[in-house]
Amino acid sequence: RSLALGQQYTSLGSQPLLCGSIPGLVPKQLRFCRNYIEIMPSVAEGVKLGIQECQHQFRGRRWNCTTIDDSLAIFGPVLDKATRESAFVHAIASAGVAFAVTRSCAEGTSTICGCDSHHKGPPGEGWKWGGCSEDADFGVLVSREFADARENRPDARSAMNKHNNEAGRTTILDHMHLKCKCHGLSGSCEVKTCWWAQPDFRAIGDFLKDKYDSASEMVVEKHRESRGWVETLRAKYALFKPPTERDLVYYENSPNFCEPNPETGSFGTRDRTCNVTSHGIDGCDLLCCGRGHNTRTEKRKEKCHCIFHWCCYVSCQECIRIYDVHTCK
Ligand SMILES: *[C@@H]1O[C@H](CO)[C@@H](O)[C@H](O)[C@H]1NC(C)=O
Ligand SMILES: *[C@@H]1O[C@H](CO)[C@@H](O)[C@H](O)[C@H]1NC(C)=O
Repeated sequence: RSLALGQQYTSLGSQPLLCGSIPGLVPKQLRFCRNYIEIMPSVAEGVKLGIQECQHQFRGRRWNCTTIDDSLAIFGPVLDKATRESAFVHAIASAGVAFAVTRSCAEGTSTICGCDSHHKGPPGEGWKWGGCSEDADFGVLVSREFADARENRPDARSAMNKHNNEAGRTTILDHMHLKCKCHGLSGSCEVKTCWWAQPDFRAIGDFLKDKYDSASEMVVEKHRESRGWVETLRAKYALFKPPTERDLVYYENSPNFCEPNPETGSFGTRDRTCNVTSHGIDGCDLLCCGRGHNTRTEKRKEKCHCIFHWCCYVSCQECIRIYDVHTCK
């Protein structure tokens, strides 16, 4: 699967990219695309990475981060509202862009970026700087320029998107860690070199999913400033700790996503597979919103009785296994 992604990435990179042919870019993004044409494939890759991670994190839930392939607004109207779901999508997509750009720069795919040569800090006991430190500051900069380009209105929604985009990017910077490698005769570790590396993107997804669960509800405030009316956000409940720059914020409640509703972008949960033994959100009770579920049996062919032959192949038989599949009414 990672290989398939890699191939898409190289084909994206080898085709001449025409910024004007990407639908939906605002002028600032179009300018950015033309100036940084070399890293645009990783920007696109980053958005895709973010969406895939979103679908992983929400796989068993009523809203499962479904995208609509044949639409310019790939999430449909779901992102129109200032909900937690919108907050998460914005954070994970901007984190994805920062991550993918940083990674591809370190892999040397572009002439305008590369490794972080500033290395931050003196070397430690028994190791020295070496290898290629990933330059997350550059990736974050690119993400900020590109993902925030359309968020310059003085309204609450722009403020929310900018906040959540930045929270996503900060997650990348916070999760940078030292990676080290031993050198020396037969792994004696005489010399150890270390460099800054990004975490697995899954760690970013897990972290932001926690932030989704604890997202802060805000209220919109209007101020009169010299440039006109400006909307800002304030925490709704004074009792709770106000959100930090690392927290996700929202100010509209989510629909319950139980019934299909084209206006809110809810697909409903009819025919979704549910887990009959789980009492959580992926369980049949909650996922099916109390409507009950149908059960059918499904035969699946699987490899079984596998034998390892010296050397080196594995032969298997094919078995039919029968599964109960539960789907929402
Ligand atoms: C996500 O939800 C959609 C719409 O209800 C459904 O068609 C799709 O199969 C679901 N995806 C997963 C991975 O459960
Ligand atoms: C269903 O839920 C149970 C209990 O939470 C869990 O152990 C099991 O792995 C789940 N099955 C699937 C297919 O997710």
